[in-house]
Amino acid sequence: MNPLSVLVPLLKLYYCGIRVLIYQMFHRSFTLPVLQKQNGRVGIVTGGTRGMGYETAKHLARLGMHVFIAGNEKEEGLAAARTIQEECREGKAEFLFLDLTSLNSVRKFVETFKGRGLPLHLLVNNAGTMLIPEMQTEDGFEAHFSLNYLGHFLLTNLLLDLLKRSGSPGCSSRIVNMSSATHYAGVIHMKDLNRRQSYSSHGAYAQSKLALVLFTYYLQEQMTAQGFPVMVNAVDPGMVDTALYNNLWSLAQALKKPFAKTLFRTPTEGASIIMYAATASEMEGVGGCYLYNGEKRQSAQDSYDSELQAELWKMSCQLAGL
Ligand SMILES: NC(=O)c1ccc[n+]([C@@H]2O[C@H](COP(=O)([O-])OP(=O)(O)OC[C@H]3O[C@@H](n4cnc5c(N)ncnc54)[C@H](OP(=O)(O)O)[C@@H]3O)[C@@H](O)[C@H]2O)c1
Repeated sequence: MNPLSVLVPLLKLYYCGIRVLIYQMFHRSFTLPVLQKQNGRVGIVTGGTRGMGYETAKHLARLGMHVFIAGNEKEEGLAAARTIQEECREGKAEFLFLDLTSLNSVRKFVETFKGRGLPLHLLVNNAGTMLIPEMQTEDGFEAHFSLNYLGHFLLTNLLLDLLKRSGSPGCSSRIVNMSSATHYAGVIHMKDLNRRQSYSSHGAYAQSKLALVLFTYYLQEQMTAQGFPVMVNAVDPGMVDTALYNNLWSLAQALKKPFAKTLFRTPTEGASIIMYAATASEMEGVGGCYLYNGEKRQSAQDSYDSELQAELWKMSCQLAGL
């Protein structure tokens, strides 16, 4: 294996991280505007058992939404939904099992959800993992690619009919894709999306987050062209102190600790960009954006490449069996 194929993605990822930390050193987390009540609306938050997903699910329920926490740890998921339900009487919180590393599980989740006969106004594709050693999912995909991107790609496509029907002009359905500043370091290896030729966990994570941005822009174009009231945005929460960093090397863990206390955002602050895209009236009718700290930002140059968007979409359909 060429050592540069491991070293270059690692250095690029840490460079992105340092830039974000410098930004956070001088800029506070943005303040959410007053958010509209969400009574009568239904949403799904993947990875809603902890971290930013949990904060998002709680805030949505507080606004009156009926929220489904979709996660792969049943006990924790049920406990999270119970806690939210007790704290937020106005909304409703439920747990539904979803393992995003399994295409079969995604299909079963959608079947169960659709069996409830509810509308769907919001899908937050939040779940994710970072810097895990090379491993294959039951479908034979690299784990970052599968969990962070392909599982969400399939989930979104299978729920799209419901999202289209549940939205209306002036009151769109919304899809929020959780990306990251690391997408700036991402490269789409179209011929080796699973990174078999030379695995780098840093490269695999960055690729999955860039794929989410490409997916966001392509899907929004389709929705707009076909006249559906569905708004799709990608969000970047900054660097947030969550369990996502548990897979860092021990030296990096030790170095991270003092920074995390002072410079990282809290999960509530990190979740506010999701809440903004998901519920703010300022975002009604606004799609195809990359949002960071309450503002629209330029994403990586590659993310605007319409040929790359279309190629990735086509390949993802094949891989997900659509
Ligand atoms: N923290 C940051 O600095 C940061 C920065 C940029 C972007 N992000 C992104 O933000 C998102 C949320 O991360 P976080 O920081 O809040 O981390 P976190 O606390 O580790 O949350 C990750 C969530 O993903 C869920 N998840 C993991 N494997 C899953 C699977 N196979 N199927 C379904 N759900 C699964 C976890 O649920 P279980 O507990 O049930 O496994 C958990 O709820 C991720 O997409 C991450 O890439 C984070």
